[in-house]
Amino acid sequence: MKSEGALNPIRWEEDHLVLIDQRKLPLTESYEKITTLEQCHDAIKVMVVRGAPCIGFTAIFGMALFAKNESQIDDTKLKIAAAFLKSARPTAVNLAFEVDRCVDLILSDPKSAFDRLVSFGQEQMEKAYHENLSMAETGLKELTARYGDKKLRLMTHCNTGHLACGCLGTALGVISHSFKKGAVEKVWVDETRPYLQGTRLSSFELWKESIPHQVVVEGAASELMRQGLVDAVFVGADRIVKNGDTANKVGTATLAITAKNYGVPFYVIAPTSSFDMASSCGEEIEIEMRPEEEVLSIQGVRLAAEGVSAYNPSFDITKSEFITGIISEKGIAKGNYVEEIEKFFR
Ligand code: MRU
Repeated sequence: MKSEGALNPIRWEEDHLVLIDQRKLPLTESYEKITTLEQCHDAIKVMVVRGAPCIGFTAIFGMALFAKNESQIDDTKLKIAAAFLKSARPTAVNLAFEVDRCVDLILSDPKSAFDRLVSFGQEQMEKAYHENLSMAETGLKELTARYGDKKLRLMTHCNTGHLACGCLGTALGVISHSFKKGAVEKVWVDETRPYLQGTRLSSFELWKESIPHQVVVEGAASELMRQGLVDAVFVGADRIVKNGDTANKVGTATLAITAKNYGVPFYVIAPTSSFDMASSCGEEIEIEMRPEEEVLSIQGVRLAAEGVSAYNPSFDITKSEFITGIISEKGIAKGNYVEEIEKFFR
């Protein structure tokens, strides 16, 4: 369910998937028609579609297209397809989580798999809205308990709104919901190098909702916090493991460490589909490496001298000791993360 005026990043139409091309936003609104598993893989890899939840939904429809296009599904073909799709982006656990669920669904009855996978994808997107709303309510409750009715200056990193989730959003969902309830004075939006999800996407979504905000380079966070201009930080997650260590867009960990230094509360917001209960600490998370060209150029315009190279990890690990609270649709985990997160899955 999308809010009025929000762009729809992903929709299923009869027999194919339609994705908005997030690489071109906000200046150009164009859509890609996806009819094969291979196209799904590529759209995830080159970031036509992005954000852990939307990557997960795209994967479900990708597996549906595989079931549709494959006349005879056998175990080997299924394994190859699943591994291929999972390899598109390794850090966002929603991708592997949804592909594994689709494999089980296909195995249970390959003949009816296409229809069931399409319905499954649509159900998951609908469910996400209710989960996002529940997280937003928990986030606002937490802010109210801490700050009463003070109007707050909130900071966020990357994009965790409609474009990442297909509905309200995780961190941006808390921010937008809290704004509607009168609790937000303004939002600081990290530009989020190198893909500029903050400058291009989050500010666009906040602008559409008339939420006061300003874009800042991420290096400005420390100065803003030193000046007392940030009341709390909200970010999303691509993978949260058993002890609360969290993989999110590169730059998140620096923000968390800085926030702790200045006593600014730092919250991670993510549905339980972004939790990886098979991994016990951040060291076990694979960090996606992306092309160096993303750092050296902007929208195809080369900035660095020819011959200069770059190192481009797309995510980082925030150790749980820097996180004030982790909010999922099941509530908030604080303090002893191993015990508290485990409660989400009971
Ligand atoms: O590389 P991206 O744009 O897919 O990274 C997105 C993020 O890091 C988000 O914070 C995360 O996926 C959570 S989205 C609700």
